[in-house]
Amino acid sequence: MSPYGVITFDGPAASGKSSVAQRIAAALDLPVVSSGLLYRAATLIAEGAQIDLDDEEAVMARLRRHDVELEPVHDGNRVRLDGADVTETLHTDEVDGSVSAVARHPRVRSWVSEHLRRVAPPFVIDGRDMGTVVFPEASDKFYLTASPEVRAKRRVGERAADLERVAHAIRRRDALDAHQLVPANDAQRIDTDPLTLDEVVALVLEALRARRASSVGAPTAGPTTDHAEEC
Ligand code: DC
Repeated sequence: MSPYGVITFDGPAASGKSSVAQRIAAALDLPVVSSGLLYRAATLIAEGAQIDLDDEEAVMARLRRHDVELEPVHDGNRVRLDGADVTETLHTDEVDGSVSAVARHPRVRSWVSEHLRRVAPPFVIDGRDMGTVVFPEASDKFYLTASPEVRAKRRVGERAADLERVAHAIRRRDALDAHQLVPANDAQRIDTDPLTLDEVVALVLEALRARRASSVGAPTAGPTTDHAEEC
């Protein structure tokens, strides 16, 4: 039996949570689930219907007409809309630009949460409110942060021309997603600004192992390091 249940990684856009979640899932041989894909699928459906994205009832009426399935496979997720694989169409500029408006609706959030709670543990999941709203009983919770400037740099490399534009877009996404961006009280918070991806992964694996070594499955605090703190 796996010593893990649900391992959550929350944090703002481009904080590295999906890369870290994927690496941790691979290291522990667990499936990884990306909750953002369901918000993207809801946005795809609403956009395709050409309805007012601010109209929650209209969005929900559209969602109810469709069957959306999230298949957590080890190297990513596939999303099927009425049986057709739409995964490759979920990261367009159009969906990027509208997803925050759709994700703001409480009933859309419940729709996504219901889909996610159907996935059988153990798994690793990334999102914004996985450790607070969707899986408050998760076995292990992490909250990754990074400054907008560092996140922009990770997105576009060192190209100065794009850097300010991307940092601006990231700050805008933070403001739009602010409501969901609240760390769980029992999450281990990691400021990834000074860390490489490998270092964040090593820190998380060490925290997971230390917790199981000290008390199997008990929700104890992770180790405290220069870059990790309880929040
Ligand atoms: O992680 P992502 O970029 O694929 O997420 C897409 C959008 O979905 C993001 O702008 C905010 C929203 N989202 C959310 O509100 N709550 C989540 N748990 C995951 C994503």
